[in-house]
Amino acid sequence: MKTPQFIQIHHMQLEAVRQELLQGLTANPQPGGASTSPKFLYDALGSRVFEAITELPEYYPTRTEAAIFEAHGGAMAQRVPAGATLIDLGAGNCNKAASLFDRFIPARYVAVDISVEFLRNALNCLQRQYPALDMVGVGLDFSQTLNLPPEVGAPDAAPRVLFYPGSSIGNFTPTEALAFLRQVHQACGPVAGGGLLIGVDLIKDSAELEAAYDDALGVTAAFNRNLLSHINRLVGSDLRLADWGHVALYNTDESRIEMHLAAHRDLTVHWPGGQRTFAQGERIHTENSYKWTIDGFSQLLREAGFGQAVTWTDAATPEQGRFAVLWASA
Ligand SMILES: C[S@@+](CC[C@H](N)C(=O)[O-])C[C@H]1O[C@@H](n2cnc3c(N)ncnc32)[C@H](O)[C@@H]1O
Repeated sequence: MKTPQFIQIHHMQLEAVRQELLQGLTANPQPGGASTSPKFLYDALGSRVFEAITELPEYYPTRTEAAIFEAHGGAMAQRVPAGATLIDLGAGNCNKAASLFDRFIPARYVAVDISVEFLRNALNCLQRQYPALDMVGVGLDFSQTLNLPPEVGAPDAAPRVLFYPGSSIGNFTPTEALAFLRQVHQACGPVAGGGLLIGVDLIKDSAELEAAYDDALGVTAAFNRNLLSHINRLVGSDLRLADWGHVALYNTDESRIEMHLAAHRDLTVHWPGGQRTFAQGERIHTENSYKWTIDGFSQLLREAGFGQAVTWTDAATPEQGRFAVLWASA
């Protein structure tokens, strides 16, 4: 059996992470108020809680996307070249890519994620199921730059297929998404056949969207509030989970779900060298999840340098789809 190689680029440069978090936490109430990047939702526990979210009846994206892979995996395999390097961005438990191995027959699987320990465990388990497949784990924060290490393989050695499921692209604003997709296009490399297979959540009824991010069992609330423990570990702050409540709302003007944490009472948060007061009801904005139309997202892919996308959805006609998977060749 092969052993997965593991490259950790995200060494948790603690001072930089601390600065980034404190800058967000101390932002003025006007215009935007306090905010943190959604990447901080994923410590080891956050990654496990996210897995639980994907099992919830209200959280349609994971099972809808899995059904699209199941129904259309054969058609996707006609686009995705066999023998490719399959690079899974934000791989999490790696289940989605693994469900496609038998169809895509990649020569190498590269799993990239910021949640390093969770990824390492997932990849070690996966290697036991696919002992002959070359596997590389990359612990990397790609929110600013998608800088893949040489261990991924030379860009001209094999076609590269970038895989970005789960509608994680929705965490970026449209402007950031375009900049990120340009980097993804670059990362596809020069070999013919390379491209991007991406999952995108579509604009739909706001009640269905809000339920997906505010389930009755309170698992998404736990996922959001776990962020506070992660921040406390990273900056030494004294945020108390009991002081904060989960808020999820659909912002129709921006076509995005927003997650926030709202203070239950007036309070002061302290950390070494600083503090900030929050009035009752004041919020920390913790995640955006932008929703797209198929036309809008296809246009974005073209602007990023990709060819015309092929789309599969969960409905007979794409317009009725709740979720879409797009293949765009580089
Ligand atoms: C919504 S989950 C999707 C997981 C899996 N791909 C799926 O579709 O079920 C987002 C994943 O991206 C990872 N992630 C979030 N921000 C990241 C960043 N800036 N750099 C690398 N990975 C990130 C998280 O750790 C998590 O595993």
